[in-house]
Amino acid sequence: MAQQLFDLLKRDHRQVEKWMTQIEDGPENQREELFTTLQDALEKHMQMEEKHFYPQVKKIKELKDLATDAIEEHEQAKNFLSQLEDMDLDDEEWLTTFSEMRQGILHHVQDEEKKVFPGCTQHMDAKILQEIGEKCIQEKERTTTSRSSGAKGKK
Ligand SMILES: [Fe+2]
Ligand SMILES: [Fe+2]
Repeated sequence: MAQQLFDLLKRDHRQVEKWMTQIEDGPENQREELFTTLQDALEKHMQMEEKHFYPQVKKIKELKDLATDAIEEHEQAKNFLSQLEDMDLDDEEWLTTFSEMRQGILHHVQDEEKKVFPGCTQHMDAKILQEIGEKCIQEKERTTTSRSSGAKGKK
């Protein structure tokens, strides 16, 4: 079912939004750890979308422009992430830069959920969406396991 794919991506979105809020509003001493977690999750999420989802979306004439925009927004987020990684967390510019990235990501997530996903439901073959969903679930399982390899049990 196509819903499986969208549910998976939306779960990632909600988690990312939560971490971004915690980084901005939470205690400063948690910022570094949360940022590392966020960075890892965002990179995996974008990679998953770029590998399995957007190449298929791009094939659909009605959705091609949305896909191009989305990939460009991913690039912007990646640039922000490496910029923030290189900056000193104590630097007051850090939070300003982070807020800028956060606004961009919130906008991107809205576009995906309000435009791209409904567009896929309307214009894409349900079978293809299901296949993408299965690939994403597999990738998710693989990357989640590799992250916790060595540590026993799941949280
Ligand atoms: Fe996404
Ligand atoms: Fe995305």
